Amino acid sequence: MTAVAPDPLSLALGMPKAELHLHIEGSLEPELAFALARRNGVTLPYADEAALKAAYAFDSLQSFLDLYYACASVLVTRADFRDLTVAYLGRAAADGVIHAEIFFDPQTHTARGVPFATVLDGLEDGLAEGAARWGVSGRLIMCFLRHLPEEECFAALAEAEPFIDRIHAFGLDSSERGHPPSQFARLFARCRALGKPVVAHAGEEGPPAYISEALDLLGARRIDHGVRAVEDAAVLARLARDGVPLTVCPLSNTRLCVFRTMAEHSLPQLLAAGAKVTLNSDDPAYFGGYLGANIRAVQAAFGFDAATWYRLARNSFEAAFAPDDAKAGWIGRLDAYFAAAGVPVGR
Ligand code: ADE
Ligand code: ZN
Repeated sequence: MTAVAPDPLSLALGMPKAELHLHIEGSLEPELAFALARRNGVTLPYADEAALKAAYAFDSLQSFLDLYYACASVLVTRADFRDLTVAYLGRAAADGVIHAEIFFDPQTHTARGVPFATVLDGLEDGLAEGAARWGVSGRLIMCFLRHLPEEECFAALAEAEPFIDRIHAFGLDSSERGHPPSQFARLFARCRALGKPVVAHAGEEGPPAYISEALDLLGARRIDHGVRAVEDAAVLARLARDGVPLTVCPLSNTRLCVFRTMAEHSLPQLLAAGAKVTLNSDDPAYFGGYLGANIRAVQAAFGFDAATWYRLARNSFEAAFAPDDAKAGWIGRLDAYFAAAGVPVGR
């Protein structure tokens, strides 16, 4: 009797993968938010978890960010940042994530008087626990808030520099419209001079020109989102030609109304153009789920075959900021997983 090959969805859910676009503050579930609020004597502007969840009806990136920054106020102590990170890594591991490059927004915390070291120590405690419990490797990407002036971001970088060996890369997030990458060219030149790879959110709500700016003026090695690249054939062709990874977050894009429905998402066009797409969850506590939920939503809309899922996972490892031998090891695990499932995959 020949074994029946698993269906593409089961394969995709179980395959080893990397997550490269995850805001740790965006993994704050309502239950943990209220537990931390009680622990720290912080008052959230919502009566209870149900009221908070009811507020998760966003019509734009900004409508989400307002809530996201308000909820982040419950994160105060080293233990809070640890608990948050452990909770994320447990959920990610259950979805097959074996490597995670995690964004954090220190300005959101230092502005409230939480020391930079408290944030970093807590996140690292969580990474260590995630590695010990689930074998997930984790790295930290420090993001600058683009709605703030570049001088304030320089001050944040100065605060980070004593800890530079513990920061893997730098990124740019927050309100995209009206805050083009060009406003941060000097800041990112300094980050690169410190020897760090840089990434930037671009082409999420902003135009394709912001993607070009992120590449040309910031030296971005990956583009976070980039889903509006399909609106400019030259930008899309460049991304494909140069193999620039895109960290696409499907549920985020539909929840923030970048696309009205998943069926209208640009993901199939990006893949058809040959862009190096990866799938990620962005702010999973707010957008309806973690990587597994994103995979389910994408599969329900597009019905990808096993080869496409293999490509997406392989892209996630190739796009990671990790040594070549680590990447080769992860891709070896991916190949072994597909081989064991009896699914031949072309490279
Ligand atoms: N910060 C957290 N999530 C974000 C997103 N989707 N875009 C920009 N900044 C963010
Ligand atoms: Zn993001």
